Amino acid sequence: MPHHYQDHYFFKAKKEGFLARAVYKLEEIQAKYRILRPGFRVLDLGAAPGSWLQFTEKAVGPGGRVVGVDIKPIRHLFAPHVTTLERDIFDRACLEELNSRFPPFDVVLSDMAPSTTGIRCADSARSALLFERAIEVALAVLKPPGSFLGKLFQGSESNQLIAAAKSRFNRLKVVKPGASRKDSREIYILATGLRKTQ
Ligand SMILES: C[S@@+](CC[C@H](N)C(=O)[O-])C[C@H]1O[C@@H](n2cnc3c(N)ncnc32)[C@H](O)[C@@H]1O
Repeated sequence: MPHHYQDHYFFKAKKEGFLARAVYKLEEIQAKYRILRPGFRVLDLGAAPGSWLQFTEKAVGPGGRVVGVDIKPIRHLFAPHVTTLERDIFDRACLEELNSRFPPFDVVLSDMAPSTTGIRCADSARSALLFERAIEVALAVLKPPGSFLGKLFQGSESNQLIAAAKSRFNRLKVVKPGASRKDSREIYILATGLRKTQ
């Protein structure tokens, strides 16, 4: 097993009953920026195996709503206010379903990542496509002044993508959580205050 799966956060997640170490990145962002609130409706893209869903399920509480989408099945059993969908986010039918089945969301999260090849520019290009799609979905399903948090592998496309996201939200921050592996080029873009379209 690769070394990074067995670090401090891996063991902490096991001990605390979380499905992945990724939960500590969201926990840190939530502690600092409080993007999730009781009663919120949250869409989580790239949600498998489900640690962000576990965290969000509690943060919004039973009065909120959480929808998790992943191309892979999510096998964990969640509370009734959490729905999981096995879908490819690039399918147009998936976006139509999100729009027709659920009322607008307060927050869209995306921890989507491609299967990495180890070739830096190929991985960052694939991550950029996922990030771009996540923003597209967020703009279609969020209600103002909603928030978006999305993962992006830094690469030549990053600045352009960040600038495009910035134009639709009031505030934008680039975040590198402590639980993010030091050798990883992943960053998280936190955009808050979705502007109303004219
Ligand atoms: C790092 S994992 C997410 C971990 C998750 N946040 C958690 O806490 O358990 C990235 C996920 O993105 C998903 N993904 C990649 N491409 C996707 C696509 N086109 N549509 C939906 N999900 C996708 C992968 O299947 C993978 O499960």
